[in-house]
Amino acid sequence: MIAAVSLWVKSRWRAWFRNVPEVEYAAALTPDRITLTPGADFGSERTVSWRCGDAVATSSLLLAHHGDTLSVEAAGTAVKSRGGIDAFYCAHLSGLKSGETYSYCVVTAGKASRWYSFSMPEASSKHRFIYFGDVQDTIGGQSHEWFAKLYRNFADADFWACAGDLIEAPVDGYWNYLYQSTDSILASMPIVNAAGNHDYIKSLYLTIDPRWAKTFVYPDNGARTAKGKSYFFDTPSMRFIVLDTNGVQDIISAMGETLWLDKVLQDAGNKWKIVMMHHPIYSVRKGRNNYVIRNAFRPLLEKHGAHLVLQGHEHGYMRTQAESGKPVYIVSFMSPKAYVARHADTGMKIVPGTRTYQVIDFDDSTLRFSSFALDDDSPMDSITITRQ
Ligand SMILES: [Fe+2]
Repeated sequence: MIAAVSLWVKSRWRAWFRNVPEVEYAAALTPDRITLTPGADFGSERTVSWRCGDAVATSSLLLAHHGDTLSVEAAGTAVKSRGGIDAFYCAHLSGLKSGETYSYCVVTAGKASRWYSFSMPEASSKHRFIYFGDVQDTIGGQSHEWFAKLYRNFADADFWACAGDLIEAPVDGYWNYLYQSTDSILASMPIVNAAGNHDYIKSLYLTIDPRWAKTFVYPDNGARTAKGKSYFFDTPSMRFIVLDTNGVQDIISAMGETLWLDKVLQDAGNKWKIVMMHHPIYSVRKGRNNYVIRNAFRPLLEKHGAHLVLQGHEHGYMRTQAESGKPVYIVSFMSPKAYVARHADTGMKIVPGTRTYQVIDFDDSTLRFSSFALDDDSPMDSITITRQ
């Protein structure tokens, strides 16, 4: 018995405890990593974050609209990573109008970025967003092409949703690579991101990379035990909820997120209820069984009739659903790494080894989920969900 446990621990040691080392770096003295995220009211609020240098300095965002330019004060915080110190800033924008396009630049210590623009969704009942799973590209890989293609082909998307592990490791080199490969897309397309295990520093108790929550700044409406990493936002017909499944490390953090999820699903009323999390309720990877995650969250997702649960982590494609039809559970990935998939249960669709992206179109009554192969854009899977 002891020998078997020792062998198991030895086989898992790297996965549990080995961190990619981080070399020393100095943050650039001009604004970079400019990132647009939604506020709690998707139709009128946005947040812009950026990084500049290693000490907090006076910063603002200039917002231009119809010939007027408004200066919005930015809040700054310096965070220490394993390789250096980064000063991050964020500016919250509210009162934005449907269908309007805004231009902005960010300024820290007198150094201004170039101008970017973003558009607010039209006041229509028809909406679209893109969802993808783990990206985890290797430096020098192809993610620049994937991001450019998604942005070009689905320019009308309201936002991108990533189910975590957007980068391979929480070190400055991979952060830089993310912003090289996305070019300036993340400054114009709102990104809705979940915390993945590759966003965490491994140890006996996982801690998230301090840069994550300063880069991806979301509404402060999450579980107290997963501050900044669980949140939700609303459109008139949808509540989009993001969980941090890495946070379920002990009974207190698990209780915190389950109590919060129960309430935010309950309060969503009869809107579309879409939940995104990194670790899947049902495993697609052979030999995995996410027992704790499944038992913590599945009863609540089913009790409140969540419509769609978007997940990642296990580098395969899967669609399955609860007996009642709600929720529909999806797992997908874009990473160059694929894992061996398990055999599908009845009613479960598994496509191993195929990287995909997904387009979700919805109006007040119908949601169309379509999955496409990343490499050749061929249709891979689809399902239509209706709502009374
Ligand atoms: Fe993962």
